[in-house]
Amino acid sequence: MERAAPLIAAIGAVASNGMLGLGNWLPWDIPEELAYFEATVAGAALLIGRLTYESMDEVPVDSFIVSRRANLALRPGCRQVASVEEGLRAALATGKPVFVIGGAAIYAAAWPYCRRFYLTRIDRPFAGDTLFPESVPLASWPLLSETVKHLRERRGGGEVMCRFQIYEQPQPRLLPALEQDSAANRPE
Ligand SMILES: NC(=O)c1ccc[n+]([C@@H]2O[C@H](COP(=O)([O-])OP(=O)(O)OC[C@H]3O[C@@H](n4cnc5c(N)ncnc54)[C@H](OP(=O)(O)O)[C@@H]3O)[C@@H](O)[C@H]2O)c1
Repeated sequence: MERAAPLIAAIGAVASNGMLGLGNWLPWDIPEELAYFEATVAGAALLIGRLTYESMDEVPVDSFIVSRRANLALRPGCRQVASVEEGLRAALATGKPVFVIGGAAIYAAAWPYCRRFYLTRIDRPFAGDTLFPESVPLASWPLLSETVKHLRERRGGGEVMCRFQIYEQPQPRLLPALEQDSAANRPE
């Protein structure tokens, strides 16, 4: 019997011009959007790119930091992994829900394994230096839900429309070790 892919989700926010980062932080300041992110990933194991990790003030336990560097110094409760696959396997082994929280390089490498993508679309262009990767084929994933809110944006000022979307990828790729497991468990 085929094994179902585990429930791995990604979460992020993107401006109308595709920007997601500026100066190793977010291009906008929308407190309610940040609160939504924090509430959604609370209690989860996180997969985080090294640059995003270094930009975060607080990092919860069971965070897996993707980096090819030797001997990265990490905060307590965090572990270095050399690939997204290694990080996702380790995150799943915690038994917690698993969220991929970016940045761009990590979304680009992890999306094939994600069943869901929680994406906040911010309906305004923002200056930035990091784009949401075009290789993530969200346009072809069914949209499970969308909630629209008008929220305060503190950098440019005023209100901005935010669409809180959840996409679902019908057939996420199995992690390599799980593929081997299912091959090993398949009857002759
Ligand atoms: N809008 C949002 O929702 C959101 C979410 C997260 C981040 N961001 C923003 O995105 C920007 C950062 O994104 P980014 O793409 O520049 O950096 P990133 O994905 O956070 O980190 C990149 C680093 O991760 C490691 N890495 C990436 N892919 C790897 C792979 N396949 N295998 C092994 N290691 C890998 C490398 O670390 P080493 O160099 O150590 O090898 C690489 O330099 C920041 O501005 C951040 O604030 C925005």
